[in-house]
Amino acid sequence: MDFVEQVKSSIDIVNVVGEYVRLRKQGASSKYLGLCPFHSEKTPSFNVDASKQFYYCFGCQKGGDAFKFVMEIEAVTFFEALKSLADRYGIAMPKRAEYSDAETKLKSALYEMHEMAARLFENNLNSSAGAEARAYLDKRGLSKEIAAEFGLGLSDRGGQALVRRFEQHGFPREAIEASGLILKRNDGSGYYDRFRGRLMFPIQNETGKIIAFGGRAIAAGDEPKYLNSSETPLYRKSYVLYNLHRAKDGIRKQDRSILVEGYMDVIGVYAAGIKEVVASCGTALKDTQVRALRRHSSRIVVNFDPDAAGENATEKSVQMLLEEGMHVRILQLDEGLDPDEYIKKHGAERYRALVDKAGGYFHWLADRIRARYGAGDAEQRTEGFKALLPAIQRIPDKLERAAVANEMAEYLNVERSLVLEQFRGLPGSARSAAPKRPEKPAVPALEQILLRALLADGAVRAAILPQLRGHAALERFATRRIFETLCGMEEPAGYAALEARLDERDSALLASIVIADELSGETDSLEHAQQCLHSLATVNRDARKAELRTLIRSAERTGDMQEALRVAQELSQLERS
Ligand code: UTP
Ligand code: MN
Repeated sequence: MDFVEQVKSSIDIVNVVGEYVRLRKQGASSKYLGLCPFHSEKTPSFNVDASKQFYYCFGCQKGGDAFKFVMEIEAVTFFEALKSLADRYGIAMPKRAEYSDAETKLKSALYEMHEMAARLFENNLNSSAGAEARAYLDKRGLSKEIAAEFGLGLSDRGGQALVRRFEQHGFPREAIEASGLILKRNDGSGYYDRFRGRLMFPIQNETGKIIAFGGRAIAAGDEPKYLNSSETPLYRKSYVLYNLHRAKDGIRKQDRSILVEGYMDVIGVYAAGIKEVVASCGTALKDTQVRALRRHSSRIVVNFDPDAAGENATEKSVQMLLEEGMHVRILQLDEGLDPDEYIKKHGAERYRALVDKAGGYFHWLADRIRARYGAGDAEQRTEGFKALLPAIQRIPDKLERAAVANEMAEYLNVERSLVLEQFRGLPGSARSAAPKRPEKPAVPALEQILLRALLADGAVRAAILPQLRGHAALERFATRRIFETLCGMEEPAGYAALEARLDERDSALLASIVIADELSGETDSLEHAQQCLHSLATVNRDARKAELRTLIRSAERTGDMQEALRVAQELSQLERS
């Protein structure tokens, strides 16, 4: 058997997708449903079919097999997806070159180097050279077990240990330079280790593979406090959250994540048994990171450090979290404590209680604004409310936006009428401020797929249009006028030509359908179109049968037995075909 086929037949797409998306089984069928990881949605339209080993999202029209899913979600090549799935299912990759390309080879060398570095760092920490670092961890209340679970280590002070190890192992120079762990001397005389004498935190991707490190200074005067790997082919900072692979089960179970600022906070909170905790790795939170979280839960508690930097980071991150449709609550600890310190001082239970009752983001924001504008007279309160509006207007959901505006008007004690006025009057009105996402057209998926296939390719039109002209099913189409126009056209009948013949409403509808496609990049147009045509026939036959049954019943009622018999014959003919 072909190796690709072998992998494909040994894996189950439900398990593969299930690592990234919470799926619910649909009754006794082989179908599963969840929230789409590729676009923002509140009601699930992401389908996984276990018997067909296929996924499809009716919201954004992305679909494919397990390989395609891994390629999309991890943003990797086909070979990497193949390798990653083979690894996960314990299938040995054949050594043949056809199963690897240059990029995949480089990446697998990089994975190996990170694994090797992690072992080296861990050994250092546990050796006599690690006494000082172990004492430091001890002082911070970090147990041996937790240090081992997080794979903490110590980088060698001399700056040659890692580069030597890599060279001895025979990694190509190109891979060494691309690793993000080794730097080149300015004078070109060789290489040295990026991390020297630091406490090392392995950073893992969502499947648990080490892809980078963070290194904390422990020697006095060593700057900066934290150093992180540079971006590499394995490590794209805006996609990675520290600890996500350990936290994701907890996030699903608790239906929330806790976002903290630092590595030490993550470890402190996790060690206290609160496992749904993650952090960005020393960069501002990005929408791509939020999407990785949202796949597991759309609820989040943000618990940054209670200092000015933390407050600013909170405000920036939260705007983006809201735009991504997350339900955000904020926890700000008192006494100036960060999560790690708070737990050390007050224990896990008190911390958990605070997380559980953390208030909504807008209350936090309103409190800050009240502190800034005062709340004495009506004018101050109005100013305060106006200052809140831009944030409120970023809430993507219209109803939720209005609800929050009303709640905040009440909280800040301003006139309800002001809410309406502001929402109507502002130049950046609620609608235009909402993020630009293609609206999901209320058009059945079948019509959308068919239309896209037809517009994508003249060959598809040549094969399909003749069968579609005068097709009885067209009458029931939500996009009937678009299809009828298309059926009446001669080549070239691509998007522009069709669009030019439609009225404003239909051309907007057409655009929304086609835009959704550009995001999904579907292929196999002809095959899709033929499948559609096939299901149209079924749908249409079912509709015709229902019609005939009604006719029979009414003929029977009026006593026209001859007519009833004639229609019944037509029905049984249809049922036989
Ligand atoms: P913190 O200074 O709060 O670190 O920075 P921490 O993790 O709580 O560590 P301790 O408790 O002081 O030992 C928060 C995060 O910001 C990034 C790191 O990811 C750190 O975990 N950071 C901080 C840097 O990238 N560089 C720095 O110089 C400092
Ligand atoms: Mn800290």
